Amino acid sequence: MNPVLEEILTTGNTKTLDGKTKKVNSQISIEEGALIQKCIEELQAQVSVEVGLAFGTSALFICEALKKTPQTKHYVIDPYQMQEQSYGGIGLNNLKRAGFGAIVEFIEKPSHLALAMLEEKNIKADFAFIDGWHTFDHTLTDFFLIDKILKIDGVVILDDSDWKSVEKVCSFISKNRSYKFIGGSTQRSHLNNSGDKSSPNSPLSKVKNLFRNSSSETKTKFGAMAFKKISFDDRRWDHYADF
Ligand SMILES: C[S@@+](CC[C@H](N)C(=O)[O-])C[C@H]1O[C@@H](n2cnc3c(N)ncnc32)[C@H](O)[C@@H]1O
Repeated sequence: MNPVLEEILTTGNTKTLDGKTKKVNSQISIEEGALIQKCIEELQAQVSVEVGLAFGTSALFICEALKKTPQTKHYVIDPYQMQEQSYGGIGLNNLKRAGFGAIVEFIEKPSHLALAMLEEKNIKADFAFIDGWHTFDHTLTDFFLIDKILKIDGVVILDDSDWKSVEKVCSFISKNRSYKFIGGSTQRSHLNNSGDKSSPNSPLSKVKNLFRNSSSETKTKFGAMAFKKISFDDRRWDHYADF
C-alpha cells in the first residue's frame, strides 16, 4: 500500500504542505476503498472521475488501482480543496507525494460545472466515485452528469448510500435507469479517527456481495453502493417509475 495512504489509514493523520501533522476527516473507510479498488481492477479502468477530494483518501485508493498506461487519467473535482479553512491543498499534495501527480487532473469547480465540462471535452470514463455535496439534488445531478460520460459496462460508486438523500438516488438508479447493482460495502464511511479501524491487510474480506448476481434493487443498507452501466439511456421521453 502507498505510504501516504497507509499513514492516513493507520494513524488518522496526514501532513500539511509545510510538513505539520493534521487530523484527517471525511475520509472513506478501508472497506469502501477495497470496494473501489476491486471495481477498478475488474474493469481494468484507465479513466476515472471523482467528486469530492477532501484529504485525498478515496483518490489515493483510486489512483493506486488504476491501470497505469500513458492514457491513464484520474479527474478529481472539488471547489473547496485549496481553501485554507477547508483542506488547504492537502488532498492534492497527498496525490503528488504518493507519486500520482502525472495521472491526476484536478478541477477546482463545483461538480455540476466540472462534469458538464468533461462531457463537453468528450471524456469517457470507466469508473466514477460520487462523494461530494450529499443532498439528494446534488447527488442526483452528479449521477446524471456522470452517466453522460460513463462507458457501457463502466461502474459508478455512490458513497454514504445509507444517508437518506443518497439512498433515494440509489433507489432512483435501480428503478429508473439501466444500471445493475453489483456490490456494496457494509462499513460506514467518515469514521472518526480513533484508530480502531480494521486492519488495512484485510479489507477485501469485508466487501460484501461484490459482483454477485443481484436484483435491480437491494434491501440491505450499504455505506457505499456500486452500479454497473448496462446500456445507454433509451427510455421514452415521458418515462417515470416510482422510487
Ligand atoms: C465527504 S468529503 C470527500 C471525502 C473523500 N472522498 C475522501 O475519501 O477523503 C466531501 C467533499 O466534497 C466536496 N464538495 C462539496 N461540495 C462540492 C461540489 N459542489 N462539487 C464537488 N465537490 C464538492 C467537499 O469540499 C469535500 O472535499
